[in-house]
Amino acid sequence: MESWQRTIYCGAPRAEHIGQIVTLNGWANSVRDHGDLVFIDLRDRTGMVQVRADASESADMVLLASSVRPECSVSVTGEIKRRMDGMENPNLATGDVEVHIHNMIILNPSRQPLPFQLSDETQMASVNEELRLKYRYLDLRRPKMQAMLKLRHDVVNLIREYLNRHGFLEIETPIITKSTPEGARDYLVPYRLEAGLFYALPQSPQQYKQLLMVAGCERYYQIARCFRDEAQRADRQPEFTQLDLEMSYVTQEDILQITEGLTIEIIQKLSSKRLGSVPFTRLTYDESMRRFGNDKPDLRFGLELIDLGDILSKTECGVFKSALASGGQVKALRYPQGASLSRKEIDDLTVFAKNFGAKGLAYLLVENLGTGGASIQRIKAGELMVRGPIGKFLTEEELIGILRACEAQPGDLVAFSADKSEVVANVLGRLRNEIGKRLQLADPNVLHFCWITDFPLVEWNEEEKRWDAMHHPFTMPHPEDIEFMERDPAKVRAVCYDLVCNGTEWASGSIRIHRSDIQRKVFDLLGISEEVQRERFGHMLEAFQYGAPPHGGIAPGIDRLLMFLMDTDNIREVIAFPKIGGGSDPLMDAPSPVDDKQLEELHLQVVYPKED
Ligand code: AMO
Ligand code: AMP
Repeated sequence: MESWQRTIYCGAPRAEHIGQIVTLNGWANSVRDHGDLVFIDLRDRTGMVQVRADASESADMVLLASSVRPECSVSVTGEIKRRMDGMENPNLATGDVEVHIHNMIILNPSRQPLPFQLSDETQMASVNEELRLKYRYLDLRRPKMQAMLKLRHDVVNLIREYLNRHGFLEIETPIITKSTPEGARDYLVPYRLEAGLFYALPQSPQQYKQLLMVAGCERYYQIARCFRDEAQRADRQPEFTQLDLEMSYVTQEDILQITEGLTIEIIQKLSSKRLGSVPFTRLTYDESMRRFGNDKPDLRFGLELIDLGDILSKTECGVFKSALASGGQVKALRYPQGASLSRKEIDDLTVFAKNFGAKGLAYLLVENLGTGGASIQRIKAGELMVRGPIGKFLTEEELIGILRACEAQPGDLVAFSADKSEVVANVLGRLRNEIGKRLQLADPNVLHFCWITDFPLVEWNEEEKRWDAMHHPFTMPHPEDIEFMERDPAKVRAVCYDLVCNGTEWASGSIRIHRSDIQRKVFDLLGISEEVQRERFGHMLEAFQYGAPPHGGIAPGIDRLLMFLMDTDNIREVIAFPKIGGGSDPLMDAPSPVDDKQLEELHLQVVYPKED
């Protein structure tokens, strides 16, 4: 061992080590120079400890220590001593002790100035993200980022341990392969040996994992990198990581159980957050749309959408009457304490609703005259006043019915949407989330997981005038619904499920089609011609003809899970080297141009867009 090599990590020294001579390796987090006395906070992956050079012990060391700049790499040998009375630092795990320097070696100095002050978390909050990513190797030195990398490692480790215990095999599948459709654009890789041929990077290992079931692997998993060229959002990256798994001879229930067990174990062992409900809440897609207006409800708070179809069945109120008459819906949403909003704030709510397709946002304000709760008697007795532009078009009976159905309290606003069911769900579902955010109704210490099941198999794509798979084309239709496939495709449910947490989808899966006749039928429904079926999916159709077992699986997003655990809305905070903007990496400066020679080898020519 070299004399400069560590005998103890920076995060380890405690009172019990007092008197020991140790060697530490790490970075100077900060240097405080008091002339005869120099303090350095020395930091490594495990934590930080104060080291000191004292002129009464060694003038040379004081000189050397005072020359150290932040982020220099140093080795310190010295004695662990108790700090002077009153000088302890309760914010530091090593705060009772310090290391008196006997010898110090500067292993490598650090260029100054630093691109950002990485030892100062308050300052770091305002540092431009592109700059952080350009110097990601410095950004990742921060204890917060190190904790993220460690947690990510622990999560993956636990996943492996859990699935190994449950009889799964970890199997790698190819990265340069053929396109597997998950609804995004493919990243292509040109093939050198023949002009005009391309590999695609997988959007997921979907087809390979199904083929592994045909191959008899029974239970497969992979910590799988997926590639999707799609519009970026705060919770999306062009390359991201799934826990991809697949099982043979199983029902939906088996997959939900395995996934739920794993999720609970991760949260209980690696997070201080509470689970919203165990077992996880289950909702069908229809129920979720009906009650919450979307298929990824945040169940940390109530505020459900209330259907007023019955109460308003005979209404003369124009907006409501016409919506119901044309087969639409009228639904209401309670906005607790919303009656105190200003006229402008209410108008802004209407604009918000219109942005999501509403024609308007009718509302009632429930106001208290005197004290006491809302009751029918009080309304009748005139103690409770209901105001709002549509109030006068509703009968007393309708008003009472609405307030009761919404469990409205004095001080509330009740908002209405009257339209086609999709519009009503979208508008009120988004309004529900907005109200939840404004009133901070969701407990940040809770993770409320919820299964959404029985999605429709297909959805109508108005632009392309065709049916698209709601999940992917390998999803099994509900056996009872197969008969509607030709007559009424919208009615066909799929054996398909999502696991949602706090309003975000984190896993998605299905029971797969394992028979080529049904697979062909679904391809037909999706308008995939026979020729394309053969070209793109012939291997699947063929594989199913050799005794393919019934099978199904799921894929939870590892990055999304880390976002829940780390309390961040930004997926880039949980990935070591993420992409920004249109998918670029400022550190490596990718993507970047290539030599003409390389292009030539690949039989490619670049056609630059014409400048305007
Ligand atoms: P799906 O496309 O729904 O299903 O993806 C499953 C999960 O992967 C995560 N995810 C993403 N995370 C970050 N950035 C992205 N761009 C991104 N896209 C998806 C989400 C999502 O829930 N093959 C199927 C799974 C199956 O049927 O087994 C699939 O990929 O957390
Ligand atoms: P109008 O009849 O257009 O004057 O609208 C009366 C009230 O109903 C206004 O507050 C509108 O915002 C609202 N409104 C109009 N159309 C709808 C609709 N489809 N759903 C809900 N509220 C609406």
